[in-house]
Amino acid sequence: MSRIKINHLLRAEDPMENVLIKGWVRTKREAKTFSFLEINDGSCLKNLQVIVEDTLSNYGEAKQLTTGSAVAIHGNLISSRGKGQLWELSASAIEIISLAPEEYPLQKKRHSDEYLRTIAHLRPRTNKYGAAFRIRSELAYAIHLFFKERGFRYIHTPILTGSDCEGAGELFRVTAFDLSNFPLKDGAPDFSRDFFGKEANLTVSGQLAVEMFALSLGDVYTFGPTFRAENSNTRRHVAEFWMVEPEMAFCDLQGNMDLSEEMIRFLTTYIIETCQEDIELFANFVDKNLMATLASIVESDFVRLPYAEAVNILETAKASFAFEIGFGKDLQSEHERYLTEKHFKKPVIVYDYPKEIKAFYMRLNDDDKTVAAMDVLVPQIGEIIGGSQREERYDILENRIAAAGLPKEAYWWYLDSRRYGSVPHSGFGLGFERLLMLLTGINNIRDVVPFPRTPNNIEF
Ligand code: 4AD
Ligand code: MG
Repeated sequence: MSRIKINHLLRAEDPMENVLIKGWVRTKREAKTFSFLEINDGSCLKNLQVIVEDTLSNYGEAKQLTTGSAVAIHGNLISSRGKGQLWELSASAIEIISLAPEEYPLQKKRHSDEYLRTIAHLRPRTNKYGAAFRIRSELAYAIHLFFKERGFRYIHTPILTGSDCEGAGELFRVTAFDLSNFPLKDGAPDFSRDFFGKEANLTVSGQLAVEMFALSLGDVYTFGPTFRAENSNTRRHVAEFWMVEPEMAFCDLQGNMDLSEEMIRFLTTYIIETCQEDIELFANFVDKNLMATLASIVESDFVRLPYAEAVNILETAKASFAFEIGFGKDLQSEHERYLTEKHFKKPVIVYDYPKEIKAFYMRLNDDDKTVAAMDVLVPQIGEIIGGSQREERYDILENRIAAAGLPKEAYWWYLDSRRYGSVPHSGFGLGFERLLMLLTGINNIRDVVPFPRTPNNIEF
């Protein structure tokens, strides 16, 4: 006999005889001649209530059940006699798969997020984290759905690379050598003898690789893990995160902004519709404004604001910022949040940033000062997307690589794409975890990643 998942039983239209469930005990309450068990199997937020009568042959054993124990239960699904649920299971047999000792850390009480991070291997068994990771799974699926419906091809860009896409040098190095015995040449590490015969690192973005496929297959995207060794201990940075990166041939910055807006709106709508019960948990217990925030994302057009105007707004804002603002300075998260939360009260796309503060591959504008960059800013988080129209002109790109102090040789293949059939093209990177924060109201990125990697933290 095969087990039926609880989300399926809770949606039943009629009673069902002799079903089998398997899951974990959340709580147990004892009455005189029977006990109630609340069973959760992870298939949905809700537990299934099980009634165990004392006439059951192993009732004595069932009475020993503790929170966290694993069980298999046969029984009939009947209309609930109590309030609070439509269905309950009347048990006909219980098998105890494993009994959890009393010191099981997730007893029925509220635990702080900080504490739960120290037991990241157990936290998905709580309501909140179970919900977060079900939403994470649905969101990943929705991303593929969004692109599939629009004719984009999914490209698996490499995780091991020999280049630094962002040119920011925040790389995790990869070597096959024993570090205590690294071969040296003239006192410096000799990478020519390492596995790849040159320096290698974990990717910071699949963009450079995926651009080659946009210039072949047209509309493409990559979606995978990316790694950054930036030492920023903030609530929106992790060292390992997932990025969604579409790239479109024959597309300019306007088209790029259009896609970013359409995508965020699609994904938000999808999650509101398919994860209703889990989203309600966040709206009730984590962020009281969540539904209003999500509605404003779905309903309002995103503001499109040139960087220079953003700076003007910030310079005249009646707010005190910790970081100075002025043309040429990068927007800090406090500035981003002011624009989207206070000034416009909806998502904002800032574009045409000064070339000095953006990556070498962004297309130089005619003013020779700014590049066709765009960042999408959302409430609570700030930057959620960074993208640009790409520099498709060989000479200018070559100059920008040199100006950024990057080794031209390393980018020979990237430059090659501008020699053979180069076309205007654009793309962006969406931080998958930041989108999850937005959709759930969870305010620390560590709490939307199964096992977060941050400075001094790789326990699990
Ligand atoms: O703005 P970024 O650095 O853009 C790129 O990497 C481009 N190559 C993308 C492209 O055009 N294809 O990163 C894109 C997004 C950010 O907006 C942010 O949401 C997320 O990735 N991100 C991080 N998320 C979590 N932790 C970090 N350390 C992140 N760094 C960037
Ligand atoms: Mg960025």
